[in-house]
Amino acid sequence: MKKVAILSAAVLCILSVAFISGTLPAGSPFATKDGTQEHLGELLFFDPILSATRTISCASCHIPAFGFADTSAVSTGIHGRKGTRNAPSCTNLAERPYFFYDGRAATLPDQIHFPIENKDEMGLPYAEAVARVSASKTYLARFKKVYGAPPNGKNLAQALAAYMTTLETSNTPFDRFMNGDSTAISVSAQRGRELFMSPRAKCFDCHFSPDFTGDEFRNIGLFDGQRLNDSGRFTISKDMNDIGKFKVPGLRNVAVTAPYMHNGMFRTLRQVLNYYNDPFKTVPHPINTDSLLLQPLNLTETEITDLENFLITLSDDRFKKH
Ligand code: HEC
Ligand code: HEC
Repeated sequence: MKKVAILSAAVLCILSVAFISGTLPAGSPFATKDGTQEHLGELLFFDPILSATRTISCASCHIPAFGFADTSAVSTGIHGRKGTRNAPSCTNLAERPYFFYDGRAATLPDQIHFPIENKDEMGLPYAEAVARVSASKTYLARFKKVYGAPPNGKNLAQALAAYMTTLETSNTPFDRFMNGDSTAISVSAQRGRELFMSPRAKCFDCHFSPDFTGDEFRNIGLFDGQRLNDSGRFTISKDMNDIGKFKVPGLRNVAVTAPYMHNGMFRTLRQVLNYYNDPFKTVPHPINTDSLLLQPLNLTETEITDLENFLITLSDDRFKKH
């Protein structure tokens, strides 16, 4: 047992040493075309060069096989440091009007410097990240080819943002069903879909549009000012009405992005659904909960299973292996 652990640590070590800046690790599920801005962004996304210790890349927390989300409730950054929020999926962000659970970035390029500079994530001043990338002969040549200029703050962010806009997913059983293949999803998932949109379950009131988000900030009861003390949107807007509101996440690929919510407090979709069924059972004294969620939904076990089966149909085929 111990031998295996030592062996795998050694393998990991070799793997990280063997990572050469400007080359991609094998198995990236959304490979982009060489020579494009998106490909340059893809190389950077997987490259630990952007972290102070050269050990953490964007993909360390946004793990491709898990819908580009993290499997831990909170992620581990440089020096083993833990953040306070769950790393969400980077898929289906192209249409979003703001980023992060509190919406503090307005565009994808605006978002890039946050994880690079965050001391619990990559911990590198943004100017230094640009300098490092410029010092790499491979990157210098690639930036010149794509942008006709060496790396700078703007094109570094542009390249990463461009890669993330390639992570749009619609190869799902749900989409095939909507396009007329009536057998693409099970009968239970079909019932779940109806329920999802019904006034009984209310999901669609907040999770609508093709990506299942209305791009609003809402409070589902996960702030009580004590054990749950992340006030969400309020930290940015300072508007009392925003206390405990978080950006409504899109639900595509949600079956592979556990754990769930801004703090990763639920490990399974079942736990999420049980929560919605009677939020007060889990959080007895929430502050500022949305009026939609003040009464228990009283869903039956079968209805909860139907909703769960529906959510599973939203996963892109490229994430099927789990
Ligand atoms: C150490 C873990 C970690 C690393 C490394 C990391 N992220 Fe994140 N990422 C997070 C967490 C946690 C959040 C949520 C933070 C919040 O909402 O306040 C997040 C949020 C995001 C979002 C917003 C998603 C949304 O739905 O609004 C994007 C986009 C993103 N990260 C891209 C990146 C890119 C690009 C990199 C590399 C330059 C990167 N991340 C590196 C943990 C990480
Ligand atoms: C009042 C608006 C609202 C309603 C109604 C609502 N949601 Fe949500 N949902 C949210 C918000 C806001 C979050 C993020 C909360 C957080 O991170 O703390 C969320 C998070 C989730 C998540 C976790 C996603 C992730 O990646 O972590 C799932 C799954 C989910 N909702 C499914 C549903 C289902 C199914 C229903 C119906 C039973 C539903 N929601 C009803 C607003 C709503």
